[in-house]
Amino acid sequence: MPQADPARGAQAIERVGCAACHQIPGIAWPQGASGPSLAGFADQGLIAGRLPNRPDVLTAFVRNAPATLPGTTMPAMPLTKEEARDVAAYLYATGSR
Ligand code: HEC
Repeated sequence: MPQADPARGAQAIERVGCAACHQIPGIAWPQGASGPSLAGFADQGLIAGRLPNRPDVLTAFVRNAPATLPGTTMPAMPLTKEEARDVAAYLYATGSR
């Protein structure tokens, strides 16, 4: 398995449009606000206030949030498992707000 790659993660974030709902450092457009800002995510203790913020849990959450956290308002996203790992790596690599 290749290493998770934050640069590929940024491409996947742009392709599937996470920024339509989230402010994400380094992703300039469109900085949506229906979901929480993802700035400084590495320093956050919990995902969506309820799940432990660990790489494996974040990888599952960004790909299929409803299956990972029943009742969440974050939709499932069209990412492969590898892309989801890259996206998680990107979120852990971004700075704070
Ligand atoms: C349709 C809007 C929408 C899209 C698109 C979306 N999200 Fe979300 N996201 C949300 C909402 C709403 C929440 C809050 C969920 C909750 O609290 O249960 C959330 C929560 C999150 C969280 C947890 C944030 C926190 O502060 O704990 C992460 C991480 C996240 N999203 C990443 C992503 C990524 C990465 C993508 C793209 C692959 C994405 N989201 C696409 C709406 C969206």
